Amino acid sequence: MKFFIDTANLSQIEEAQALGVLDGVTTNPSLMAKEGIRGEANIINHYKTICEIVDGDVSAEVISTDFDGMVKEGEALAALHPQIVVKLPMIKDGIKACRYFSAKGIKTNLTLVFSVGQALLAAKAGATYVSPFIGRLDDISTDGLHLISEIREVYDNYDFETEILAASVRHTMHIVDCAKIGADVMTGPLSAIEGLLKHPLTDSGLAKFLEDAKSL
Ligand code: E4P
Repeated sequence: MKFFIDTANLSQIEEAQALGVLDGVTTNPSLMAKEGIRGEANIINHYKTICEIVDGDVSAEVISTDFDGMVKEGEALAALHPQIVVKLPMIKDGIKACRYFSAKGIKTNLTLVFSVGQALLAAKAGATYVSPFIGRLDDISTDGLHLISEIREVYDNYDFETEILAASVRHTMHIVDCAKIGADVMTGPLSAIEGLLKHPLTDSGLAKFLEDAKSL
């Protein structure tokens, strides 16, 4: 299972990279705005900096919602760095743009996916990644993890190569559950990744080892 960090915060990306388990980064306009990244030149520089920190795929989202606009923006983003993955919204023109980019060998990530039908379309259009948002489904009292299971089943039925990127991961157990189901990738906050480290028996066991080591 690949681990992506879902942020545009450079310190957090550096910290996750230093841990040695990071496979990529996902961003979106909200995450970029949260870091105060504004203006085309700053946005471009920010993506380039992220690509220099991480040795893996970096999803950069288009803002356009029409085919021509998505193609223009996506081509410019893809030209920035070989690690850039063009992130496209799950709408009709997003699917058309996905087919356009996959035919050109440019990686894509279909975002804002909330149903199996949408995931099926993304795979048919040759998406590199499909991003079902599990946390946002949980937010409306719907089982986000169940969607991951259903997409896994459908993709396995037909050996689709599109990777299931469990997105909108909010906490550590989301990661563990996605791994059990067989999501190919998860993207979440640093806190959820670091939560995997924690167990009280590890802490108390280490404290005892260190105490006993004093008598050696
Ligand atoms: C990832 O690609 C998404 O942008 C992200 O996971 C959304 O997460 P949120 O629902 O916590 O905003």
